[in-house]
Amino acid sequence: MKALVKITYCLLFVALMAITTSCSKSSDPAPDVPSPQLTAAQSYYDASLKSILTSKCTRCHSEYSNFAGARTDAAVNYTVVNNGAMPKEMSKLADADIAKFLQFKTLVAAIP
Ligand code: HEC
Repeated sequence: MKALVKITYCLLFVALMAITTSCSKSSDPAPDVPSPQLTAAQSYYDASLKSILTSKCTRCHSEYSNFAGARTDAAVNYTVVNNGAMPKEMSKLADADIAKFLQFKTLVAAIP
């Protein structure tokens, strides 16, 4: 009889340990890693778009000298360079440069 009580307590103890350890294991929060799409858009801005914005736009729109500002207006910027409204009082951008605005708009739209 005594042995049975011991075994019962032992099993209870094991069960309690299992419950407490499983509950105290807090799941780690997801690390704040930038999405691959964000990284792609940022790299494209640095490599291909920033130089155009700097030479043709930032004189009047200083916000395009950083990725965040350019990201915010990526879609409208493609529209205005494609229809020739911008750069203001200058000739329309070359097709190759307009294509870069479109590519940037596409990359920004893909950011989750
Ligand atoms: C000489 C100054 C100047 C330059 C250079 C310039 N802009 Fe503008 N931009 C303006 C002004 C002023 C406005 C306000 C609207 C207007 O007067 O046409 C404007 C308006 C805009 C708008 C808002 C249009 C709308 O419909 O809401 C966008 C977007 C824009 N510019 C993008 C650009 C981009 C991209 C470039 C470079 C390729 C550029 N701008 C170059 C002066 C400039």
